[in-house]
Amino acid sequence: MALRRFDIEAGGDAFAFKAETEPTIDFWLGKYPAARKQSAVIPLLWLAQKDNDGWLSEPAMREVADRLEMPYIRVYEVATFYTMFRLKPVGKHHIQLCGTTPCMLRGANDLKQVCESKIGKKFAVTDDGKLSWEEVECLGACANAPMVQINDDYFEDLTVDGLGEIIEKLRNGADVTAGPQVDRINSAPEGGTDVLTEAGLFDGSRNGAVTTLPNLPEPEPAPEPEPEAKALPEEPAPTNTAREETTEEEVVAVAGERPEAAEVAEAERDNLKEIKGVGPVNEGQLNELGIYTFAQIAAWTPANVDWVEDFLSFPGRIAREDWIGQAKVLAAGGETEFSKRVEAGEVDSSKDEGE
Ligand code: FES
Repeated sequence: MALRRFDIEAGGDAFAFKAETEPTIDFWLGKYPAARKQSAVIPLLWLAQKDNDGWLSEPAMREVADRLEMPYIRVYEVATFYTMFRLKPVGKHHIQLCGTTPCMLRGANDLKQVCESKIGKKFAVTDDGKLSWEEVECLGACANAPMVQINDDYFEDLTVDGLGEIIEKLRNGADVTAGPQVDRINSAPEGGTDVLTEAGLFDGSRNGAVTTLPNLPEPEPAPEPEPEAKALPEEPAPTNTAREETTEEEVVAVAGERPEAAEVAEAERDNLKEIKGVGPVNEGQLNELGIYTFAQIAAWTPANVDWVEDFLSFPGRIAREDWIGQAKVLAAGGETEFSKRVEAGEVDSSKDEGE
């Protein structure tokens, strides 16, 4: 790691934040408890750097330390550690040139030569005070490599001539245009895109459009896997009980909370196979647990769902197939597309053996 020293002379004796910066300081201080206001050291150093022509003088660091009631050395440590804080005066337009691999492969080394020839060595400030440059690590605009950041703006898709022109314009006080320097919008393909060109994708007119394919037959649910030989409780316990407590063979703890079992007369039991995802095997296992009606399933809590999913060894499936939503409709006397098909005998996997 490079040794970074701050310039003790160049910053004079005093520093004061600009009046218009004070609300921003209050904003950052408001993010932390009063006793932890030191947590705002990085944002305050950043604001001090902005108010100090792009670099941190020693008085600026002291001002931050005083405001945050920190020892000066603690603030010096932060400022000298992070390379985003510059410790010597920089030009009015300070160029950060990305030299990381994607930019390097796309010509960053040539851009460095442009900076050296037009500005000078790294961190040297031109005599007129207008320009300086440094090399930095990836600035997160790799798709637009090679690129530089000048003060707060990115200049992307640069060429040697293009960067040279930008530097000359800045030197002469002319306007420059930030962003990609080729015919592209942000990081979209150069010359415009050939795909996703429909205007409705971007003007909001497709919001809420139905995107499901019409008139496709509802897919058959996957066949029920053969049940593993599982020891089930002989009598469903009336209260919530962990699975390992219900069988002697099963010792693995089951997450969640077992749904309450019920005694339901045969005639009042629902055909649980009208719930998409419940076939004869699952229905039998639910019955073993004392679950016989849509209303019972409709009342399951998330903890109950966890327990049943764990017990039946299909994590996530109850939510994915929306058993509870289906059960609510059916418990209220309604029908679902799937229940209608079960009623009509069109779903083989919902037929009991022998049917
Ligand atoms: S490598 Fe240059 S912006 Fe990422």
